[in-house]
Amino acid sequence: MARLRILFAVSECFPFAKSGGLGDVAGALPIALASRKHDVRVVLPRYTGTAKQPARRLAAPMAVPAPFGGESWCAVWESSLGGSEGGSVPVYLLEHEQLFGRDGIYGDRYGEFGDNLSRYSFLSRGALALSSYLDWVPDVIHVHDWPTSLVPLYLDTTLAGTRLGRAASVLSIHNMGYQGWFSAEDAWLTGLPPHATSALEWRGSLNLLKGGIAAATAVSTVSPTYATEIQSPEGAAGLHRVLEARGDRVVGILNGIDDVAWNPSLDPHLPARFDADAMAGKAICKAALQTEMGLPERPNVPLLGLVSRLVNQKGIDVLAATLPRILGLGVQVVVLGSGEAWAEDLFRKLALASPNFRAHIGMNEGLAHRIEAGSDLFLMPSRYEPCGLNQLYSQRYGTLPVVRGVGGLEDTVEHNTTGFKFDALDEASLLGTVAWAVHLYREDAPRFRRMQWLAMQKPMGWSHAARPYEALYRLAMARRKASLGG
Ligand code: ADP
Ligand code: GLC
Repeated sequence: MARLRILFAVSECFPFAKSGGLGDVAGALPIALASRKHDVRVVLPRYTGTAKQPARRLAAPMAVPAPFGGESWCAVWESSLGGSEGGSVPVYLLEHEQLFGRDGIYGDRYGEFGDNLSRYSFLSRGALALSSYLDWVPDVIHVHDWPTSLVPLYLDTTLAGTRLGRAASVLSIHNMGYQGWFSAEDAWLTGLPPHATSALEWRGSLNLLKGGIAAATAVSTVSPTYATEIQSPEGAAGLHRVLEARGDRVVGILNGIDDVAWNPSLDPHLPARFDADAMAGKAICKAALQTEMGLPERPNVPLLGLVSRLVNQKGIDVLAATLPRILGLGVQVVVLGSGEAWAEDLFRKLALASPNFRAHIGMNEGLAHRIEAGSDLFLMPSRYEPCGLNQLYSQRYGTLPVVRGVGGLEDTVEHNTTGFKFDALDEASLLGTVAWAVHLYREDAPRFRRMQWLAMQKPMGWSHAARPYEALYRLAMARRKASLGG
């Protein structure tokens, strides 16, 4: 099979930048593809936080077409992902102090940054400019969510007729809830010709994801069930007709996990290691987590964890409302998260009021690993969930997830086998399912242990997903070739 040249244009990529699962995916899928001998490269901004990662500044600055004509300039830093096993991936970090020299990725505690249209259209044009800078023309450009959704539009307009303009584009939708809405008056900031910006128009404003869906050569999302959900009016957050108008199906490819970074037998963030057949280390992790979070150290009290962006999508409101009754089951609960101010404040307050509930507000990669490892159960009462990685990490760490059966949660958790599932997003369903899981933990240890073993054994590395992506890239290339002729 011919080796493909694949460019990942993305707004986050672990360990360079991460706000959620997109960062994890962009940090792992390219390595799985490179292990299959493809020439994969990644481009993302060099945010202030990115500077902590080792990288080398390339001598020449890079010219990026400016929206008002002419060029603006950025520095390019080079680093890599992956390693020895033939899977090393070059990573290019675009340094532009005015646009990206900030702590947050999309925003800060005051909200979304006001200049995100300029920031991410620059990233999209910069990703494309990298091709002539490196003298390397990709066969496929894989873009992710609204921040790089303009790439397919540039290929068809400003780059039409060039060699790069023939590249196929694949748009992966990680989350329909975030579409990149901007004021219609700012359309000129994209640098697209006026006739092309009509593809972005949406109910009087600009919608970047809408434009990407219409223009990309192929569209995918991150689980089969979410692919079905977003092709219905309820699940598409307004965009199902745009998907329908494409005339092809959205492909749902289930995310994998990085088997090295999220592996309880190797994890450097843990006080002790364990695996499916040797679980003593998990008890040490539980005791250490109780101590770290300021909870009484109780080996037999069920410990429930949650690591999440604290936003509407995650059903945080329902969890908060149910929490007093969950705590009434005689369990301990720990939360790690950041997000909407009301949720942060509420969890802080609840932690002051209960000796069995603790919340750590903020991002903390090490603590996320320790909660996955030290908890007995993991909570994910999501309103919707395109894929979800935390339930997979939980399963890998023998921490049975209690999830709502939507999107990727439906596809990855088998009720009473590799976790616990409920349907309705309400307090009674969440409480009832948590109570059932706690009952099994207390009254039927062999069955609980068997479930842990099954969850931990489940294959969930990225290698299973690399092949369907490869097939999708080839399909997109063939389609692009047919549509451009020759
Ligand atoms: P989403 O992408 O919707 O946020 P996922 O379950 O796919 O949900 O991925 C979330 C990722 O972000 C996981 O790697 C999780 O550990 C991480 N994460 C979320 N909140 C925090 C936090 N406060 N600190 C550290 N990691 C976090
Ligand atoms: C999104 C989704 C999440 C998914 C992640 C990676 O942020 O909310 O469900 O796992 O992207 O694809």
